Amino acid sequence: MSHVELREAALHCEDVPLPLIAREVGTPVYVYSAAAMRSNARGLKTALAGLDDPLVAYAVKANPNAAVLTTLAAEGLGADIVSGGEYQRARAAGIPADKIVMSGVGKTAAEMALALDGGLFQFNLESLPEAETLSQVAVALGKPAPVAFRVNPDVAAGSHAKISTGSAHNKFGIPTADAPAAFAELKELPGLEIRGVAVHIGSQLTTLEPLEAAFARLGELIETLRAAGHPIATADLGGGLGVAYDPSIEAPPSANDYAAMVMRVTDGWGVRLIFEPGRLIVGNAGVLLTEVIRVKDGPSHPFVVIDAAMNDLLRPTLYDAWHGIEAVVPRGGTMRADVVGPVCETGDCFAQARPIDRVEAGDLMIIRTAGAYAATMGSTYNSRPLTPEVLVDGDRWAVVRERQDVASIIAGERVPEWLRQ
Ligand code: LLP
Repeated sequence: MSHVELREAALHCEDVPLPLIAREVGTPVYVYSAAAMRSNARGLKTALAGLDDPLVAYAVKANPNAAVLTTLAAEGLGADIVSGGEYQRARAAGIPADKIVMSGVGKTAAEMALALDGGLFQFNLESLPEAETLSQVAVALGKPAPVAFRVNPDVAAGSHAKISTGSAHNKFGIPTADAPAAFAELKELPGLEIRGVAVHIGSQLTTLEPLEAAFARLGELIETLRAAGHPIATADLGGGLGVAYDPSIEAPPSANDYAAMVMRVTDGWGVRLIFEPGRLIVGNAGVLLTEVIRVKDGPSHPFVVIDAAMNDLLRPTLYDAWHGIEAVVPRGGTMRADVVGPVCETGDCFAQARPIDRVEAGDLMIIRTAGAYAATMGSTYNSRPLTPEVLVDGDRWAVVRERQDVASIIAGERVPEWLRQ
């Protein structure tokens, strides 16, 4: 449930009318529902309650806003982080060190040192050269580094090619077949403590079969590794469960369906399971609130030009992603239109020839399911300031990221002396 619904003729986020936020903060602006995030987090934790002490480490990359992390920390979630910056954010939001997992194919020695020094649950390694670097870091710090190896199970995730990660030709993890030899080498490296195995095959998965296939391979690998004497105590099953974007398409499996599959496949593994959900926790908890600048005639149907653009929400441009678009105060009736942003690229388009609520210049609209991989993938392209973010919690709301001003973008740039003559 997104917690953004029509009430008394206007869309509200929880108890707050969206026109109020637009008036006070301006548009475009991201609006998040704390209740939706809490309900998603609790739904998953409840679904996994049959497991022995699972670690749910929220994938910070999905939405790293400090208020979002603080909300999720209060729900007891840990963090899956992929950079020094995400580590600092997670700690600043109060996520305990022993609930932090560090993933990522290109961790630098400095990032490893930051996390090891500050404390974390485990590193998920993606290659032997990376293990060697971590070994040096751990020896230098005099602190053992708990590690898991991420394996690439070579299964087709069935999602968009740019967000599938578990095929042999993807850059992630080591081939499952190479894992026994890699663990043997790992054992010889000083400063590393072998803890487990990890897998993550992609994002926005809409069926359970590829996940189940990957987990089954991981289960076989655990047996092989244990037979070789490696102490496998954790298995990180990654994230990836999709959310419903287009209501006309069958919804992805629920957290309950996912958990039932996990419990069936991992029965008897004797490990602590780790989960790294991102989109599942925040995807449906956000909308991008925008105003129609004007409606322009087109050859077969009009262009609705809104004040949000690909720099605010990149997913439609980058992945041809479908997001619901609705009027905030519906006038009644529909129109077929292209919904486009003001950026000078044809790809700056949120919907093509789509039947939408009838709108006119000055009307407010929302783009739905914009809580994950949305604000965080924003840019200042076309010198458009980063989009502000608002968190709603019941009838309370607050700006949780201010609108960037253009002066601050320019202030970070320098014109060299020799150009100033
Ligand atoms: N764990 C690892 C190692 C990951 O790489 C990711 C996502 C996750 C967990 C969380 O996956 P989730 O549960 O959110 O599917 N920008 C793209 C999505 C990229 C996902 C990258 N990795 C999008 O907008 O669809």
